[in-house]
Amino acid sequence: MTTTDFDLHLTDEEKSLLPSDEDVAFYAEHGWYLSKKLFTDDEVDALAAATDRYYAGERHRRLPVRPPKLAYWEPAKGAVQRHNDYVHHEHDGLGALLRKRLIGAVAARLAQADEIRIFQSTLIFKPPIDGEPSNIVPWHFDKHYWASSSSERMLTAFIPFHDCGEELGTIVMVDGSHRWAEVGADDTVVRHFADRDRNQLDDMLARNAGHNNAEVRKIPMVIPKGHMSFHHCRTYHGSGANVSGRPRQAISLHLQDGDNSWRAYPLSTGENAAYNHDVLVRRTDDGRPDYADPEYCPVIWRHHAKQGG
Ligand SMILES: [Fe+2]
Repeated sequence: MTTTDFDLHLTDEEKSLLPSDEDVAFYAEHGWYLSKKLFTDDEVDALAAATDRYYAGERHRRLPVRPPKLAYWEPAKGAVQRHNDYVHHEHDGLGALLRKRLIGAVAARLAQADEIRIFQSTLIFKPPIDGEPSNIVPWHFDKHYWASSSSERMLTAFIPFHDCGEELGTIVMVDGSHRWAEVGADDTVVRHFADRDRNQLDDMLARNAGHNNAEVRKIPMVIPKGHMSFHHCRTYHGSGANVSGRPRQAISLHLQDGDNSWRAYPLSTGENAAYNHDVLVRRTDDGRPDYADPEYCPVIWRHHAKQGG
């Protein structure tokens, strides 16, 4: 495929679903964006059906090794909040939908990037159990897990399989927090939120807001079916209980701009920060994990500057 093919593959109708200049400016200021309807109802239903098959055990390929911090719910873990990484890689039905060019084109506008690749995809199932502690996702921002990534423009699309409001425990953004200067970060922030102390994370949010003379303004994303919310990799977010009586099902699609690559990020232990990809992806010519390995990090959008549009 040549680079220009990507531009040719957006229909006029799809182009009308891209963020406007005002939307792009809003994202730059607020650190989040609620998209237009990027998936048809049929596509969302196909996502849900592929997910059912995934949970029933269907895989088209498996990771050759198990990375150290892999999220991988299995039935034996029971009725906790489920997280499964690399679903775009392991399941072709999910992968095909998640590679939809329009999602990449929207992300490229927001991140002001010419190329967008998948970085990770995490399938999420929040069971309808009020009081289930694993359903609560404490305040964090994703860049903390991505310290070995050079980019400051990475972003995430949160894609529910149904209308998603507060009663389901939808994702909640802390408005404008991606522009905060950070205080009090230490090596523990590189760990996944499930492994971290919740009170410590709440304290970190309050301390960082105070340091920036900012108020903590929490915006629940009320997302109609087929729409998705995008957030910047430094936007604090979290989510609460599911009191709806129905499961909350979604995919977090983590995206990287074309310039992202592995960088050395030394921790206090002397070791470099690592990401799960580092034991999976091919190496670059100078020996670094290649975050552009198409096997794990496929390009979903490439904009050729000379093409316009
Ligand atoms: Fe997150």
